[in-house]
Amino acid sequence: MRLEHIALAQTSILQFFKSLTFKIMAKVLIATEKPFAAAAVAGIKEIIEGAGFELALLEKYTEKAQLLEAVADVDAIIIRSDIVDAEVIDAAKNLKIVVRAGAGYDNVDLEAATAHNVVVMNTPGQNANAVAELVLGLLVFTVRNFYNGKAGSELMGKKLGILAFGNVGRNVARIAKGFGMEVSAYDAYCPAEVIEAAGVHAAASQAELFKTCDIVSLHIPATDETKGSIGKALVGSMKQGAILINTARKEVINEPELIALLKEREDLKYITDIKPIADAEFAQFEGRYYCTPKKMGAQTAEANTNAGLAAANQIVGFIKDGITKFQVNK
Ligand code: 3PG
Repeated sequence: MRLEHIALAQTSILQFFKSLTFKIMAKVLIATEKPFAAAAVAGIKEIIEGAGFELALLEKYTEKAQLLEAVADVDAIIIRSDIVDAEVIDAAKNLKIVVRAGAGYDNVDLEAATAHNVVVMNTPGQNANAVAELVLGLLVFTVRNFYNGKAGSELMGKKLGILAFGNVGRNVARIAKGFGMEVSAYDAYCPAEVIEAAGVHAAASQAELFKTCDIVSLHIPATDETKGSIGKALVGSMKQGAILINTARKEVINEPELIALLKEREDLKYITDIKPIADAEFAQFEGRYYCTPKKMGAQTAEANTNAGLAAANQIVGFIKDGITKFQVNK
């Protein structure tokens, strides 16, 4: 074989391998209005680029138009509470997968995704401890009168009711027991034996949980069934001096009913990590209402890293090997 033939053969082989690389090349976008910790972004970059993919970053965006522009040529998106609706999915012509780095995926239009053959996944459990720690932190802050110097009370011996015994609820129970609280839980989808096995009293109903506990902590997702379900009937049945704490979703609260109750009962407190729609109205209950300035539950370096890296690995696993574990729109 002449030298020029060998060179030609080498070029063709190279071109063949290049075309293979091109086939698995994918562009992944991190779209986070509330950014991940820097360590999490660095970890995601390592996984995505290590797989031979390209990573793009859109953080702290203020307009939907910025998101629509950023998704135009991407194959995959990693989001947090960012809204991925039909318009976003439609604008992302190459989109194959959206991973919500976190538990709740009510911010993604699953129907639109399915209609466009886009796989949607979450990363369950990855930020559960962070949310649970915030619950107990907010409770200490509340029972100590928001650190205003006046004598407060302690959590030890108080009855804590956990509504929904998923990853966050279980972590709340574990930490609350460390505080010496009496912990009960109710979960329509979790057998009482599982709750009891965790050393937690299994309440027979939501109604019992609210009626018998000093504090109720919400850990239900926002679904058609739960939206607006926490209102007068349940909260109104709570004991004198009761606290309702919400680190789940604002949509589960019947806000007009809760506002009316707070007006009626000066002993009630509402603490939340998610700004209500009627935030300005709730603000009148100073000393009995507190909302974090920004949703803080999952906002730790550890949770960002756990959820972000899981999201990146799930994208690589899906694009390279078709793994659909954690798909929520099956
Ligand atoms: C979740 O569903 O995982 C939490 O609500 C976290 O939301 P965030 O990523 O916007 O902080």
